[in-house]
Amino acid sequence: MMMMMTNKQTSAPQRFLTGITTTGTPHLGNYVGSIRPSVAASKGAGAESFYFLADYHALIKCDEPARIQQSTLEIAASWLAAGLDPERVTFYRQSDIPEIPELTWLLTCVTAKGVLNRAHAYKASVDKNTAAGNDPDADVSAGLFMYPVLMGADILMFKANQVPVGRDQIQHIEMARDMAQRFNHLYGEHFVLPQALIEESVALLPGLDGRKMSKSYDNTIPLFTPRDQLKKLIAGIVTDSRAPGEPKDTEGSALFQIYQAFASAPETAALRQAFAEGIAWGDAKQLLLERIDQEVAPMRERYQTLMQDPAKIEVSLLAGADKARQLATPFMRELRQAVGLRKLAAAPAAAAKSKTAKTSEPVFKQYREADGKFHFKLLDAQGQLLLQSHGFESPKEAGKAIALLQAQGEAALPMLQQSLQPVPGVTASAIATALHLWTSAAP
Ligand code: TRP
Repeated sequence: MMMMMTNKQTSAPQRFLTGITTTGTPHLGNYVGSIRPSVAASKGAGAESFYFLADYHALIKCDEPARIQQSTLEIAASWLAAGLDPERVTFYRQSDIPEIPELTWLLTCVTAKGVLNRAHAYKASVDKNTAAGNDPDADVSAGLFMYPVLMGADILMFKANQVPVGRDQIQHIEMARDMAQRFNHLYGEHFVLPQALIEESVALLPGLDGRKMSKSYDNTIPLFTPRDQLKKLIAGIVTDSRAPGEPKDTEGSALFQIYQAFASAPETAALRQAFAEGIAWGDAKQLLLERIDQEVAPMRERYQTLMQDPAKIEVSLLAGADKARQLATPFMRELRQAVGLRKLAAAPAAAAKSKTAKTSEPVFKQYREADGKFHFKLLDAQGQLLLQSHGFESPKEAGKAIALLQAQGEAALPMLQQSLQPVPGVTASAIATALHLWTSAAP
């Protein structure tokens, strides 16, 4: 299903890449939202998949070494137990790829600080501090601030086309695109622009209390909890007080939604019928237990076997890192060369900054439409439309608007709101990145 969502499939194989932060133990929500669809997608033909344990990212949130290690082990074992085949995909641990932090620095140098100021996770911390009357950056590590750049390095290093993520991560993918564009603009075409891939058909799984299943709400069901534990947890799912025999609502029922995430369409229809006919909550919970266990039990067994042999998982991850570095090492060499981190013995490629090595740059285009009005648009270095004006009465007026954009960059956008038409799918930061060409050249 995921495969069908890729926009404009090209003939080149699509490369999927996703990272899993190694804090915590995988729960049913992680399984339904990420592990299961990813493992299914990795089995499809024509897809090339990269999955990695984002343990550098974990350090941003967690300063307990034992927990980082345990979580890395549990997550690796979970993905393998769920059927991820390390022969078919590239499955590795982020911290085994020294090129990732190296690339992070190169990207740091082409990322506007202002863009990072607007990253959701950082902004949320600042807003919280401000509301509490504290220093805006109280308890905010530079790691949290830099989170999007490290993530950009993860993605751009492997030229991923599609990045399956939750909605909360879309902004990070857009930032990675902007970093790629900016770098390509400065140093030539090296990076592929990634796209966020949101699996629309996967509903968020509710947790025990009916809110989204999440570690931060403490309402999760661990994926591989033993069956008797699973039974106890399911018994704790919130229901209403309707007695056996009374019809029950499927709408808003956490129990029903979790069932649906595991059941086939006919099974779901049967439970809906049973709700209407007044099934007792206890019986519905028993059905849910059996349905989940049917899918999870074989994996749970593999999981337990894997957890008893961490050395085997280690070997598999190191083999994955080897595979990943076959791409990362030469690519990093190319990138170092591109930015000028070069051997001194070799003759300098060009004394002056070589214009010819550059790709095309963002451009403003002015033109007259059939209605006699004067329009302009802004295209990025790849020729993609970023800004589109309405019609101006004279070329001079159009020119003024362009001059304003070139002088003030994105700050001019609110002033020109009346003169611009919305362009769907274009982010403010993409516009800012393109305008940077002029604003940064200004004296
Ligand atoms: N930030 C992601 C999350 O919290 C994890 C992650 C790190 C990631 N690097 C990535 C996801 C690269 C996709 C691609 O879910």
